[in-house]
Amino acid sequence: MACINAKKTCWNCPAAKFKGNVDFTACGQSRNIEAENAQIMIECRRRPGLGHFEPTITFEDCPEWEEGDYGYMLKNMKVMILGIDGYLGWALALKLGKLGCKVSGVDNYWRRDCVAEKGSHTVVPIERMTDRLHAAREVHGIDINFRRIDVMDRDKLREFMDEVKPEAIVHYAECPSAPYSMVDAKHAIKVQENNVLGTLGVLFIMKDIAPEASLIKLGTMGEYGAPLTGRPLFEGIFPSDAALEWKGRKWSLGGELTPRDPVSFYHCSKVQDTFNVYEACKYWWLRSYDIMQGVIYGVHTDEIATDPRLKTRFDMDEWFGTVVNRFVAQAVLGMPLTIYGRGEQIRAFIALDDAMQCMVRLIFSPPEPGQYDVVNQVSGLFKVSDIAEAVARVGKEKFGLEIKIQRIENPRVESEKHPLEVVSKKLPNEFGFEQGVTLEKEVERMFEVLLQPEVKKRLEEKKHTIMPKTRWSGMKKESGTLEVYEPGSKEKEGFEGVLRRGA
Ligand SMILES: NC(=O)c1ccc[n+]([C@@H]2O[C@H](COP(=O)([O-])OP(=O)(O)OC[C@H]3O[C@@H](n4cnc5c(N)ncnc54)[C@H](O)[C@@H]3O)[C@@H](O)[C@H]2O)c1
Repeated sequence: MACINAKKTCWNCPAAKFKGNVDFTACGQSRNIEAENAQIMIECRRRPGLGHFEPTITFEDCPEWEEGDYGYMLKNMKVMILGIDGYLGWALALKLGKLGCKVSGVDNYWRRDCVAEKGSHTVVPIERMTDRLHAAREVHGIDINFRRIDVMDRDKLREFMDEVKPEAIVHYAECPSAPYSMVDAKHAIKVQENNVLGTLGVLFIMKDIAPEASLIKLGTMGEYGAPLTGRPLFEGIFPSDAALEWKGRKWSLGGELTPRDPVSFYHCSKVQDTFNVYEACKYWWLRSYDIMQGVIYGVHTDEIATDPRLKTRFDMDEWFGTVVNRFVAQAVLGMPLTIYGRGEQIRAFIALDDAMQCMVRLIFSPPEPGQYDVVNQVSGLFKVSDIAEAVARVGKEKFGLEIKIQRIENPRVESEKHPLEVVSKKLPNEFGFEQGVTLEKEVERMFEVLLQPEVKKRLEEKKHTIMPKTRWSGMKKESGTLEVYEPGSKEKEGFEGVLRRGA
């Protein structure tokens, strides 16, 4: 799998200078600078000595690309991470830095501020950015070029991008929370402004400053919703042989964006982003992978685990905690694991370490100019009640914890029983992703971290932030208990998720 991107060419390489050479408005034509019969001529930023040439050099033939653990990797690739201080951003910065990338990043501490506003904190203590940067240098020898910038401040971001000239831009800098967006009008507007307008600004800046960089943009599987018909969730775009039949007539759907059915105002912001990124690729020949990411769980990557100062954040409050992380926190606190409603909601998941592997692979196999592509970044589908069972099982077998499960009134508006079929073929088949972590393994690691006395103390301090009080209806009321039961005492019923990964 190591050479999965060996045959990609200058078309995919961010060092290839298309702007000024190729007239994309009339696709397939160029200014035809030197050779009379040449179709398209480009220059290389890294190898100016080549002059103008046809963009046909493969990664395996180019001395700027070298073989590594994730296929061919662009030497010292300049990757800018927007939202570098976050749960995922920090983990990715360390991973890329260790691989030899020149990592830069921006953050305005939005997440730290929002969590504080809600009276909570990350239960795994994290350092201030200055200390994180210092530790990254000391422990891993990584120099991260960080700037405190609000993505909404376009002048500052433009200036920094112009200085760095990134070859890939990972855009994590958005509010990641559905419940936070449902608190009230102020929160919904704050989330949509930050996410939608922030991303729109990034697209305009990229057009001017870094049109050949790939944009690795984070969306979420929640953009699709969970169709009650059981229609598969394709990777963002209908396959070429999909068709719509109606009253005896038939049309191809191939290549069209698939329907989105977001499930909160946060998810709506991601859907709007999808359209804005799609359009920017169409109008300006930007290139992007839009990642429909499953819910992330876990605490581990090799780089984070090396030193306590390098830990990434871990939240378990009702607004910013994701479900697996919250269940482990509840188990450590001796609280029953709270599932919403029937608990038969099926969702897509991926462990932190696996998500980081996917990101690295996508960064090193950039799309072509104008290419907008969607990947479903998922390693497993689980019913919420099954996750509770798994956490209870690992907690008991490995740590001797007696854990109960509790069904509570569902604060969300969502179907609690539905089929779910997810297609996630591109990452394994086209990018070489191999799942490295099982749910049980990562849950065990999470218990190990959360049971440490310092972390457990921080959990106890914020225990009151766990039970949901934010309802999609707008009512502010803690969800009442419907039922408490012993793990393993329920018959399995309802639908099972279907994940299509094969060729
Ligand atoms: N964690 C998950 O389970 C999950 C699942 C699917 C999608 N995602 C998406 O992945 C991305 C990263 O998620 P995360 O869990 O790391 O969230 P996070 O909140 O920990 O990270 C986002 C970072 O971006 C920063 N940020 C936000 N707005 C900013 C702005 N205007 N200017 C500068 N910095 C800003 C925040 O301060 C934070 O450090 C988000 O876009 C999220 O929607 C996350």
